[in-house]
Parts: sequence; structure tokens; C-alpha cells
Amino acid sequence: MTGRLPPRFLWGTATAAHQVEGNNVHSDCWALEHAQPSLFLEPSGDAADHYHRYAEDIAIVAGLGLNAYRFSVEWARVEPERGHVSEAALDHYRRMADACLSRGIAPVVTLHHFTQPRWLARLGGLAAPEFPQLFAEQAARVVRALDGIALVCTINELNLPAIAAPYFRGRATAEQRAAAERVLGAPLSAFFLHVDEEVIFGNGLAAHRAARAAVRAERPGVAVGMTLAISEEDAEPGGEAFRDRRRETYYAPFLDAAREDDFVGVQTYSRMTSRADGSVGLYPGSVATTMGWEDRPEAIGAVCEWIAGRWDVPIIVTENGYVGGDDARRGIFIAAAVAGVRRAMAGGADVRGYLYWSLLDNFEWMLGYGQRFGLVSVEGPRRERRVKASAAVLAALAAGEGA
Ligand code: BGC
Repeated sequence: MTGRLPPRFLWGTATAAHQVEGNNVHSDCWALEHAQPSLFLEPSGDAADHYHRYAEDIAIVAGLGLNAYRFSVEWARVEPERGHVSEAALDHYRRMADACLSRGIAPVVTLHHFTQPRWLARLGGLAAPEFPQLFAEQAARVVRALDGIALVCTINELNLPAIAAPYFRGRATAEQRAAAERVLGAPLSAFFLHVDEEVIFGNGLAAHRAARAAVRAERPGVAVGMTLAISEEDAEPGGEAFRDRRRETYYAPFLDAAREDDFVGVQTYSRMTSRADGSVGLYPGSVATTMGWEDRPEAIGAVCEWIAGRWDVPIIVTENGYVGGDDARRGIFIAAAVAGVRRAMAGGADVRGYLYWSLLDNFEWMLGYGQRFGLVSVEGPRRERRVKASAAVLAALAAGEGA
């Protein structure tokens, strides 16, 4: 199985369509952003206009000497109405893949990154009985249309709703929920970030498997896997049992399922510390980022070590990043994170790539544009790109010059 993976270590960066493209008007997320009152701080609008400026952005990736770019194909553009497939949209993504390939960059394609067509939300989203079949059809048409894809990620962070849905649910007011359900024409659980936990384990994993089979049928040589949100899990004295339960509930079942895949995409931002009272939070005395997460570059290495200790599926770090305006800190974070990954590899972890989240400052879902993860800022009404100093740190590591 691992023979499908590219032979070289992948050094790259990642984006997701809805967060950077702009005007994803046929998606459920767009509808939710415009509900009154909305769960979203602000609408995505034109975003970084990556839909039109992808060539310039991929040129930046190439200029940094990176050899991989992860982007997602937006289902709501490819199939804006049920059964109506836009060949022009597929052509667009084919051009993106070609732009990567012509610059020596391996395209890493995500098929589902939180958003979906509105018509699909009306059917119930991931919970719809026909979801696995429809998703497999979408997977097949995308991989058929795009030549030269290196890796396919089926569903981004399939386990995330299990971890985060109770939190998101708790933050939605009754008015926001009612407005959201009005515009969706479905329960809010039709939107990926609010999906019910049992649906993830049932239809979610079934959809992943169906898409994997579809990709393999179309392109037997392409590596396919899912990505998972995995934090470093730690415990204060007395919190160990709760920490272990979190691992067994949120991560282990998905890693078990990933044994059939070519790789698992690991997405780690921070550490969660379980307490004796069954709550979870920041490690005592640690520094929080603008997202409220612990600033913890060591987390990704620790997660790779933990996975490698129990599962032998190859790992690709499909997301890891620093959020905040302090770009000097971002550079330090990247160097420390990669050092942690290298330590894990020296200890036997089979890590095949490191993709920084994110290439661009982008639309951070409900939190809008205030959160900055990018190696590149997007400035003013003309959305000018400015490469930050931290990008040079990643470039140097990719070139084999970094610590
Ligand atoms: C998601 C990204 C998101 C990032 C930072 C991941 O959960 O895949 O879409 O922007 O984390 O919150």
C-alpha cells in the first residue's frame, strides 16, 4: 500500500477552498454566513480570491522551494445543483493541478473540507443515507478529471465533529440556530461542524471507504487517506483516565480505520490537558495563542510518536501551524515543530511529509478573518500577497538548511 506514496519527503503548505477562494455561493457555509443572525462573525465574501489568483499563489509555493501544495476541490462548485456537473469547475481544478505539476509541486487534493453543496445539506448532509454513494461519485469525477494528483484526502478531519460539535452547539444561540436551519432547510447537524457523533462513526467512515474505493478504481496508483484532528493529549495529576478516554474516543477508532488507507493525514495545532474534574484546558502556566490554544510547537512531534507507537500507517502532517500576528514567533514555531517531527522520525515514526497550515491568511470559519495562520498575508481591497519572514524558515528547512 505504501508504494503509492511519493518517494520524496513532501514539504508544503495547505489551504481549503472555502477559506481562500471567495464567493462559494452554492455552499451550505455561504448560506449560513448570510443567515440573520449568523453563527459566523462575518461572511467569507471574496476571501483571498484564490479562485482567480491560484497561479500567483502556486508560484509563491514554488518560489519557496516547496514540493507539495494541498488544496481542496469545492463540491458546491463542481455540482452546484444535484446531478448538474460543471465541467468548467472541473477544468478549473485541473488547471490548478497542472499549475502545480508544471512547477514540480505535488498536488495534494482534499475532496471534502467542511463545506458541501446546499442541495446536499437539504438532504441532511453527512447523515443522508445516500451520502456515501454521492461522495464516491464526486470522488470519482474529481480524480478522473485531474491528472498527476499525488495524494487524495477524502474527508478533512472526519473526527472533528465528535470533538468539537458539543462546543459549537453550546455556542449557538436559539436565534442563530433557527436562522441557520431556515437557510439550510435542514437541521443544523446537516452542516459538517455540527454533525452528530454517531453519524461520523457510521455514514462518515462509510463515505470515506466508498470514496477510497472510487479513487482506487479510477487511479490505482494514487495514495488515498483521510485527515484527522489530533491534539497532543496530556493530563494533570488525576486527569489521566479522562485523557486516555479522549484518545480512545476521538482518535483511536479513526486510526484503526486508517490501517486500510495509504496514509493518515495528521492535523495538530496544540496540546489539550485533562484535569481531575473531567474538564480539559491549557497546560498550567502555558501561553495561549489568539485562538485560545496552547502555543505548543512540540505537539506535532508528540502526536507522531504516539501514533507510531500503536499503528503502522504512514503519516503525512497535512496541517500544523501557528496562529497569531507575531510572525517571528511563527518562524520559531515552524522550526521547533519540524524538529519535533524529526525526533519522532528518528524514533521510528514513518512520517512522509510536513504541510504547513496555511499558505494564506484566510477565513477561519465562524471566527472570520481575524485569525492569522498564513505564511503570506493578503492585504487591502486588491488582496495583495506579501510573503512573511516565517515562510523563509519553512523554505530553509525544505532546502535542508534549517535546524
Ligand atoms: C481545519 C482548517 C482550520 C484550521 C485552524 C483545521 O481544523 O482543517 O480548516 O482553518 O484547523 O482552525
